[in-house]
Amino acid sequence: MRVLFLSPEVAPFSKVGGLADVAASLPPALRRLGVDMVVATPRHGRIDRSELTPLREGTADMAGLQIAWRAFTRDRVVFFDLPGLFDREEVYDDGPDEHLRWAGFCHAVLDWARGEERFDVIHANDWQTGLACHLATDVGSVFTIHNLGYQGRFSPDQLSQIGLDAGTVAGTHGLLGLAIAAADMVTTVSPTYAREIQTPEGGAGLDGLLRARSADLVGILNGIDPEVWNPRIDPLIPFHYSEKSLWRKEWDKQVLLAEMGLPHRRLVPVVGVVSRLVPQKGFDIVEGPLRHFLSVWDLRVVVLGSGERRYVDMFRRLASEHPDRLAFREGHDERLSHLIEAGSDIFLMPSLYEPCGLNQMYSQAYGTAPVVRKVGGLADTVRHFDGTRGDGFVFEHFDEQGLGWALGQALTTHLDRRRFQVLQRNAMAVDHSWDARAPLYLDVYRRAVKRDHARRSASRAARAARRPPRSTSSE
Ligand code: ADP
Ligand code: GLC
Repeated sequence: MRVLFLSPEVAPFSKVGGLADVAASLPPALRRLGVDMVVATPRHGRIDRSELTPLREGTADMAGLQIAWRAFTRDRVVFFDLPGLFDREEVYDDGPDEHLRWAGFCHAVLDWARGEERFDVIHANDWQTGLACHLATDVGSVFTIHNLGYQGRFSPDQLSQIGLDAGTVAGTHGLLGLAIAAADMVTTVSPTYAREIQTPEGGAGLDGLLRARSADLVGILNGIDPEVWNPRIDPLIPFHYSEKSLWRKEWDKQVLLAEMGLPHRRLVPVVGVVSRLVPQKGFDIVEGPLRHFLSVWDLRVVVLGSGERRYVDMFRRLASEHPDRLAFREGHDERLSHLIEAGSDIFLMPSLYEPCGLNQMYSQAYGTAPVVRKVGGLADTVRHFDGTRGDGFVFEHFDEQGLGWALGQALTTHLDRRRFQVLQRNAMAVDHSWDARAPLYLDVYRRAVKRDHARRSASRAARAARRPPRSTSSE
């Protein structure tokens, strides 16, 4: 089985969110099952070309537009250099040529693939690579939805620039919907999200289409890479620890607080946040409960994130009201994100919706109690702690009361050191590795291959039926 896996971001080369981590860790897990996985991604401006090995170059035709590409490789990832389109700082540009960038990328990758040994499956991720499922009709195709909130919607003019007529895309709204309609198999990143997106409340306008494809729609939880997110060996944290040496986690906490300029006190609870600052992550219900606990509880809150102005302002406001208790670092910082997982006791992730979520699983691996809303992948990965069983704190309703209740439960539990350690050990024992999850993708690939075979034998039969019958001498 040979699979071409397309992703807009791949850690450690480029990363905005969880997809980068999935694109870095799922392909190796599938290779361990014998699948020949090749990952394709743009060479974004921040990826240093001198560290890559050149492969080939060519030009793809996209509706009359010539897309010049150069392919490079490193660590089984093929990087596509598209002059003028991807030599930029940001992975997602949201500028006026976003459609040309990603459609151009899909055309370039497929053009390159034609010169390679045949792939059995094209596996595209999110709308940016979804066009590949629409274009590649002679191969099995799998499309994974990592986030229904980003659909790649464009004007009829923009669509025609990338070779699509508005009619083709009409029923599907955008490139995400087009990929959902075109792919042989569709997956998303948790079973609960797979159900939620088939409802009008969770479907972001695509629930009808998703229901129509429900027989081919599978929810598979993301896994995490224990080589990268593991407090026993993580090179990005100062002190390593395991469930047997949790006291060393306190030392990471001291380093974290010192770095963030917050005073340390023995046994003080630290609440961490690492997130894109967008409505999806639930920041609209955070200010009230945080302000309350910051004024009545001697706790520390450490926030790392970037995104929308109003959330940046909110955290700045809270930091100026409680400079000894809350510190906010704006930006993207891989090292600090690991230190926050290691040095916090509690991790806040009150998402409005969450396809899967990785940070709650990273938190569990680091013995940090996630406080989450019961939604999407959070509902599938965190069990509310009952004193004996469970590995986090879960609230249901998306409101300040719900979040305040769960955070209160977490802080109260933390007062009882023994009890809190029961939760920490439960959390650290949860197996979120890809080992049990990657085989589910293999199964999906097999189903896509079957579809492709059936399609090709049907078209062979149709061609044969159209051929005029051979005349025989007796006639
Ligand atoms: P999403 O993909 O929706 O952002 P996930 O929980 O799946 O959510 O993954 C987020 C990933 O991005 C995690 O690895 C998290 O540590 C990382 N991340 C988010 N914001 C930042 C940031 N400001 N700095 C460093 N890493 C971040
Ligand atoms: C998306 C989702 C997140 C998921 C990640 C990786 O960015 O928002 O929930 O974990 O993709 O699948």
